[in-house]
Amino acid sequence: MSSKPVHIAQISDLHIKPPGSLAYGRVDTAQALERCVATLNEFSPVPDFVVISGDLADTPTAEEYQYLKRLLASLKLPFAGIPGNHDSRELMRAAFPSAYAFASGPLNQRIEAGALDLLLLDSSVHRKPHGDLDEPTLRWLDATLASSPERPALLFLHHPPFKAGIWHMDRQNLLNAAEFEAIIRRHPRVLLVATGHIHRAALTMFAGVPTTICPAPNHAVDLDLAQFREPSFKVEPPAFHLHTWFPGEGFGTLVTHQVPIGTFDGPHRFFGSNGKLL
Ligand SMILES: [Fe+2]
Repeated sequence: MSSKPVHIAQISDLHIKPPGSLAYGRVDTAQALERCVATLNEFSPVPDFVVISGDLADTPTAEEYQYLKRLLASLKLPFAGIPGNHDSRELMRAAFPSAYAFASGPLNQRIEAGALDLLLLDSSVHRKPHGDLDEPTLRWLDATLASSPERPALLFLHHPPFKAGIWHMDRQNLLNAAEFEAIIRRHPRVLLVATGHIHRAALTMFAGVPTTICPAPNHAVDLDLAQFREPSFKVEPPAFHLHTWFPGEGFGTLVTHQVPIGTFDGPHRFFGSNGKLL
C-alpha cells in the first residue's frame, strides 16, 4: 500500500442557475463557485481529487449544466460529481460523460485516488427531494466493496442517511438508510460516509462509520433545531471539506478538516529565527 497521504476535497450543493440569475432571488451561486474554485486552485497541499456531492445545477436545465462546465473549466484539479435532488441524471450524464458504472440510470462511479477507493453513489429520485439508493446501486455497492477488500474506501452520496435535526430537511434525507447500513457493516474497509444536501457541516456516526455533511460555497440551511421557523436559509461563511487519509495500521487513518473559502491573513510564523515565540 502507498505510504503517501491522499487528500480528497469535497464541495457540495453548487446550485448553478442560468447566467445572471440568483438562487431564491438573493444568492449569486456562480460567484460563490468562482470563489470556491479559486480557493481550491491555491490550496496546499494540492488535493488529489475533488468530489462534488450533488445539487450541481438548480432547476435543472441543460443551460445550467453548460454554465457549470464553464465555471468548472478553471478548476485545475480532477473532479467528479454525483446527482442531488436538484439534478437530472440524463442532463448530468450528457454534460459530464464519465466512466459511470451503468450505461443508463444511476450515476455511480468508482474512482481510484492513490491508495483510496472513492465510491460515488447516486441517491437521487426523479423529481423528488428525498434520497433513495435503488436496487442496482445497492448491489453495485456491495459487489464493488467486496471486489478489493484490502483498499480503504470513502463513500459519497448527496442525501444524509441520518436526521440532522432540521425538521424540513429530515423528511427528505436518505429514506432507505437501513439497507445502506447493512452493506456498510459487511465491509470494514469503509472509513467514511460523506454527504451534502443540508449546506452546513455536521458529523455523526452511521453504521459504525464517521458520517459527515459538507458545508456549501453559497448559502446554508438555517440551523432551526426545534421547528421555530419556516424553511429558511442564511448566508454564512462558505467552506468545503478536506478528507485526508494517512497510511498506517489496518486501513490507515482518515481526518476531515473544514476549510473556509476565501483569502485570509497569514500564514504567519509562530517562532522567530531564535526559536522563541514571536
Ligand atoms: Fe439537495
